[in-house]
Amino acid sequence: MQHRQLAPFSPDFLWGASTSAYQVEGAWDADGKGRSVQDARTNFPEGTTDYRVAADHYHRFAEDVELFAELGLTAYRFSVAWTRIVPDGDGEVNREGVAFYHRLIDALLERGIEPVLTMYHFDLPQALHEKGGWGSRATVDAFTRYARILFEEFGSKVRYWLTINEQNMMILHGAAIGTAGDAANPQKALYQQNHHMMLAQAETMRLCHELVPGGKIGPAPNISVVYPASPRPEDILAAEDFNAIRNWLYLDMACRGSYNPTAWAWLTEKGIAPEIADSDLEILASGRPDFLALNYYSTATVAAPLDGGGVGAVDGADQQLAVGEEGVFRSVRNEHLPVNAFGWEIDPVGFRTTLRVVHDRYRLPLLVTENGLGAFDTLEADGSVHDPYRIEYLAAHISQMRAAVSDGVEMLGYCPWSAIDLISTHQGVRKRYGFVYVDRDEFDLKELKRYRKDSFFWYQQLIKSDGSEV
Ligand code: BG6
Repeated sequence: MQHRQLAPFSPDFLWGASTSAYQVEGAWDADGKGRSVQDARTNFPEGTTDYRVAADHYHRFAEDVELFAELGLTAYRFSVAWTRIVPDGDGEVNREGVAFYHRLIDALLERGIEPVLTMYHFDLPQALHEKGGWGSRATVDAFTRYARILFEEFGSKVRYWLTINEQNMMILHGAAIGTAGDAANPQKALYQQNHHMMLAQAETMRLCHELVPGGKIGPAPNISVVYPASPRPEDILAAEDFNAIRNWLYLDMACRGSYNPTAWAWLTEKGIAPEIADSDLEILASGRPDFLALNYYSTATVAAPLDGGGVGAVDGADQQLAVGEEGVFRSVRNEHLPVNAFGWEIDPVGFRTTLRVVHDRYRLPLLVTENGLGAFDTLEADGSVHDPYRIEYLAAHISQMRAAVSDGVEMLGYCPWSAIDLISTHQGVRKRYGFVYVDRDEFDLKELKRYRKDSFFWYQQLIKSDGSEV
């Protein structure tokens, strides 16, 4: 639909930006912090670094928050490292870790920036991992206890809470994100982990409403609509199936407290359905989100499986590159879409469609917690960074988000990835997303100085105009 006049963004729309603890903080073992699975990871692609220093935000957060204020952010989405708060996941509380997040949150609030707190972003405590991780029910209790600590500590300061970042990607791309483990039936193990995360999430949402007056909480999966490769009914069915497996499995559970029927049929058919205890259903039904957060980078396009088998897996699959599923769908390249330097398709219109479909399905306000372009940036001799490609990407997506608002979608805000350069999940430092350039290479830390990119000044102007000057 074309609108003759687009609706404006509401004056209290949150114009933010995002990061996650292990990708930005560094200081991986400072001040009593425990090791997370990310700190313990050794499978970094050749030529990329690990997360131990990252952007050194832990030591430079005050300078960074000044930059966020200058940028004009009205929200900042960050994650708390579980291992700073409870170093071994379920034992003693580390007061120094708690104090760090108080300092960060206070600095944000002093500058009128709304903190949006993710409780868990890919960085499970290594000690819990060694005891079975999400495969063990004990981790549900450990997470719920950790959540309670966060609510009690920060509940008077933080209004917006996110439970688990991209739970669906941790399950669908367990090998890429490091959750797969080496169980005899890795997929079944992953869906058992998934079930436990669902329980932890439901308990946490319930607890938030009990402990944080006025607090709002939601899940933060990676959601994008799945297109059929053609109008062939079999392709449409394949797209519906992948939509159920990729998207609705996670959002139906968060919003309705039950498994999506199509996804459940697939889990059962494959023999990978999780074990469910009687009391689980009650727990799952007891938690409800106040809004839905979602990360969006691109859409996926799929076709019906081939008779002779074959799923069209994409080389080097990561969280955005769909792999197929024998007998269900195969992933195909969408020839209508350009791709970025890392092979991810770019689809701003798909962003509008995704926002509409999710809003229509669950009728909850939406908060975009990631969207952005990973690219190779160049720091010029005069300290400038010219990133017109990033501006183009963001402008196109914001325009489509405004169209979605005009279509009737209720939006709380937009937090693109990322506020500042950080370590990419898959391609290290060289794949940059930030509005602020952090001067370091993969292995040469240099001085980690901060530089404002062209996109910084562009986003600053956009925020000043309440999103009207895209
Ligand atoms: C999301 C994650 O999957 O995508 C982020 O929540 C991640 O942690 C982002 O950095 C971009 O992915 P990548 O692999 O380019 O860093």
